[in-house]
Amino acid sequence: MADEIADERIRPVRIDALAFGGDYNPDQWSEETWLEDIRLMKEAGVTMVSLPIFSWPQLEPEPGVYDWGWLDRILDLLHEAGIRIDLATATATPPSWLLRAHPEMAPWDSEGHRLEFGSRQTYCPSSPIWREHVARMARAMAERYGEHPGLAMWHISNEYGDHISRCWCPESAAHFRRWLQNRYGDLDGLNEAWGVNVWGQRYTSWEHIETPKKAPGPINPTKLLDFERFSSDAMLELFQIEIDVLREVTPDIAVTTNFMSMFRDLDYWDFAAREDIVTDDAYPEPADPTSHVGAALNYGLMRSLKGGRPWLLLESSASATSWRDVNVPKAPGRIRVESLQAVAHGSDAVMFFQWRQAKYGQEKFHSSMLGHRGERSRSFQETKALGHELKRLEAVRGTRVRSRVALVVDWDSWWGSSAVESLPSQRLRWDEQARTWHHALHTLGHAVDTVRATGPFEGYDLVVVPNLYITEQPQADALTAFAESGGTVVVGPFSGVVDATEKVHDGGAPGPLRALLGVEVDEQWPIADGLSGQVGYGAAELAVPHWAEWIEADADVEVRGGYASGVLDGHPAVTRRPVGDGAAWYVSAKLEHDGMLTVFRDILHAAGLPARDVVNVEAEAVTRADDTTDYTFLLNHGTDPVAFELPASGVDLLTGADATGRVELGAYGAAVIASPRAASVPFLTLTTTTE
Ligand code: GAL
Repeated sequence: MADEIADERIRPVRIDALAFGGDYNPDQWSEETWLEDIRLMKEAGVTMVSLPIFSWPQLEPEPGVYDWGWLDRILDLLHEAGIRIDLATATATPPSWLLRAHPEMAPWDSEGHRLEFGSRQTYCPSSPIWREHVARMARAMAERYGEHPGLAMWHISNEYGDHISRCWCPESAAHFRRWLQNRYGDLDGLNEAWGVNVWGQRYTSWEHIETPKKAPGPINPTKLLDFERFSSDAMLELFQIEIDVLREVTPDIAVTTNFMSMFRDLDYWDFAAREDIVTDDAYPEPADPTSHVGAALNYGLMRSLKGGRPWLLLESSASATSWRDVNVPKAPGRIRVESLQAVAHGSDAVMFFQWRQAKYGQEKFHSSMLGHRGERSRSFQETKALGHELKRLEAVRGTRVRSRVALVVDWDSWWGSSAVESLPSQRLRWDEQARTWHHALHTLGHAVDTVRATGPFEGYDLVVVPNLYITEQPQADALTAFAESGGTVVVGPFSGVVDATEKVHDGGAPGPLRALLGVEVDEQWPIADGLSGQVGYGAAELAVPHWAEWIEADADVEVRGGYASGVLDGHPAVTRRPVGDGAAWYVSAKLEHDGMLTVFRDILHAAGLPARDVVNVEAEAVTRADDTTDYTFLLNHGTDPVAFELPASGVDLLTGADATGRVELGAYGAAVIASPRAASVPFLTLTTTTE
């Protein structure tokens, strides 16, 4: 499944402005309120709304009996007001009558309990009944609205995997078996792949294979890993079913499904390949003053999923969410800078969940563009100001982010390092590694793209691989070719350990990466909770929480940092091997943020790349560009002033003022400097602001 891309054509979203607006739920409001909504949307500069995402029961109240009237009316009103429509296929959640008629389509949890109707997304992704009805509903929507003049694109389902991303029911088990048959051919193939001689796990009939429900002890790791892959593919099939219907009925309309940022459960590389445009829902935690750093990594992923093309921020929060234990609102100004951050990182949209704050139900305490106080609400005043400000940024629409650094995102290794129960330590996970490494590169001034371990790496000077637990030869070959042609590769701990069937590579780690890195791992050396190892790095001493490795380095490998405590004292920790015109580094320890700052500073300098001397994690600069112009976004994510040194003079699109030399920004400040496209990626240094 994951390998067949049905259609390479990219259909444009039918909107000729930056998209600004939000989810709209008119079926929760009277038609009189709709008129007020339209008036205020126009006032706020709304250009697009998303609907009717959860409205299947309102559109088909009884099997085969449709009530399109209300949707016809609101779509026409929106269109007359010049507001484009991100039209949902309304398949995000089933009506109760469907579930009652087919209780077998409900999802099961890992302990074998069937989940009840009463929330949303009560379906098993593999259910044939659900799939049949989803295709039917998508067709009904496409036939009715496919030629509506307000239609900008199709919004398929909603946040696949939000509540249900894995299902352990009998239907899923049957589907899992079919998926395994397809992958391994026959039972011998499966038994070999799963290494069933360990703990007596041999299968003699396909029918004996179940979903990995709770078992007496640790479950066969390859089975767990395959269940992750299968579950992502099962959802992908569900997506493809709707895509096929929409392509048939409306071949020229773009399709999307909204992602959930850095979401573990679905391999978004596979999803993005099937849609016309990447869309994302992002909810950085307002209580965390560094949540914009995680957001930058997420946005780096979103723009990279389709090779750097612009994407759309389809949901964000105007202030507080309502699904956290404690839902902290956003301080005044933060909505603006967070929204501009998404645009800086390649989004051609700023949209919110939702337009009007609900009066009842599960999300009535979730902030919205139009809060409970209506026009007087702060969220309305701030989002309205933002809507107008975005009009000054029309020139950036369609432009692409410039970056010299890419971080490898690999769902297999994410799953391997988190689903498998029997590992040297549960304290080293792909996602944590990725976040720590990205955080350091971000702090040193780089906007980081993401890439698959097999590339493509063209255009990058530095490719970092925070962890690649599962490594196959093609990945090692691609990384080696990149280094040979002058690139710098940095590989993190516990990489090259197992192959795709979760078998340890001959000779141990780093397996296929051994020749590239010039090191061998004798033993992984996890560190007990509460203790810390140490790496000496020049004059610095770096803390090593949780993970170290006993490594042996080849003679041509330079040791840049060595373990400086405990049993590993004196052994190499961070190594650099010259490779062709480039270099390959191995960072064998799990380091904290400060440690990664030190190591990446060294790596960047060795690679001839800039790194900030004055660092301030709140000061972010990202450049989007077209053929002639660089648009450099300067963002202050904090409340203390920051100052950037502009490498070239330009004009601030937000104010119209000339900008040259030093640009100072106050609390949550932003500037977008347009200047002639520079030959190399603009790099913004900071000046200290204490004077
Ligand atoms: C998203 C979802 C929306 C809404 C929002 C609240 O996950 O797509 O429907 O629930 O969260 O933050």
